[in-house]
Amino acid sequence: MKVAVAKETFPGERRVALVPAAIAPLKKACAALPGGVDVLVESGAGAAAGFPDDTYVKAGAEIVPRAAAFAADCLLTVRTAGACGDSWCTDRELIRPGLIVIGLCDPLGAPGGCHEAAEKGATLFALELVPRITRAQSMDVLSSQANIAGYRAVLVAATALPRILPMMTTAAGTVTPARALILGAGVAGLQAIATAKRLGAQVSAYDVRPAVKEQVQSLGAKFVELPLETGASETAGGYAKAMGEDFYARQRELLGKVVADSDIVICTALIPGQKAPVLVTREMVARMRPGSVIVDMAAERGGNCEGSVADQAVVVDGVTILGPTNLAAEVPFHTSQLYAKNMTTFVAHLAKCGLPEVSTDDEICRETLVAKGGQIVHPKVRERAGLPPLEAAPA
Ligand code: NAI
Repeated sequence: MKVAVAKETFPGERRVALVPAAIAPLKKACAALPGGVDVLVESGAGAAAGFPDDTYVKAGAEIVPRAAAFAADCLLTVRTAGACGDSWCTDRELIRPGLIVIGLCDPLGAPGGCHEAAEKGATLFALELVPRITRAQSMDVLSSQANIAGYRAVLVAATALPRILPMMTTAAGTVTPARALILGAGVAGLQAIATAKRLGAQVSAYDVRPAVKEQVQSLGAKFVELPLETGASETAGGYAKAMGEDFYARQRELLGKVVADSDIVICTALIPGQKAPVLVTREMVARMRPGSVIVDMAAERGGNCEGSVADQAVVVDGVTILGPTNLAAEVPFHTSQLYAKNMTTFVAHLAKCGLPEVSTDDEICRETLVAKGGQIVHPKVRERAGLPPLEAAPA
């Protein structure tokens, strides 16, 4: 089986789906497939992440032109279909029947791309849909990338802030520490807390799920308690649930003072599959000190902060609001390394489940398989694409 790594075409995307160090583990994990796997890498695929072609050759891969990568049996990408935006147009022409494509494809946000890949006859696996279950943890690209993005968000904020973060006692006087507030203490939020602490800021964090209080405190940050009824805020799977507009209005009212007292606010609040909840209003921004910085990590999904614009810096009443949407691509060496580990484990799992014909009895295969046999087969993605449910197969 030929497994190929494509060079990313999305503007600003510097990650690569497989790093040289992942090639040997991938070959080993797939050794049971008839003939094993040969790894092809599109020329220049890893260059932006710090992995030149010769490092892939030394690791046992063959460097090939783009057309040859797309002619392989299985194509590994960071972004494909809906996650590629307009740059998908060029790749679309290269997709052919039977090609197995694995990557981030924004199946719920932009299902049109998945539909096109399905119509071209590709078998498409969406890594966004890896279930957050224990045995799939090592395949969870959203977590591995959000973790580093949370780290990066604090660095971005620190660079834009006209103050330093740590307390400093010098002959020229004492500087008080900056105050950082992290909204949402999931994967990105917890890493943002840890990073802001390491840089010496005074860190507070808030999350709607009371269960994270202990994790926040174990990182040395203060957990902001709001007098809100949050009993029903968590699903059985440990995710936040969408709350009513009354809840969010009260939450904003109570958060107002903490936000106003902060020099840095990192917004990471997310309800899976939904538009981001607004936690910081325009009026709350107006109460912050000029020079303060907000990094809205949810800008791409509508934003946690009113007025944030995807991939732009907006200054409102002297407060800088940043809306970076691809922080993971700003540190491509390590995000690619982690992504490649997730990818390798995922492909090894597919191989165990009978690649190229994977069994959908397995939860991980079933949940990630978006398109096959000329159609979208994932019920939720069909719904988002406005397609009727597939008829249940006769027993
Ligand atoms: P996660 O699901 O691990 O964490 C989200 C947290 O938000 C949860 O702890 C949840 O309880 C909390 N939350 C939900 N509603 C809330 C509310 N009303 N008030 C306070 N907390 C609330 O998600 P993860 O992986 O940490 O991602 C966070 C966000 O960052 C997402 O919007 C994701 O799309 C985004 N992201 C952005 C990147 C970028 O480059 N801009 C890169 C990676 C992730």
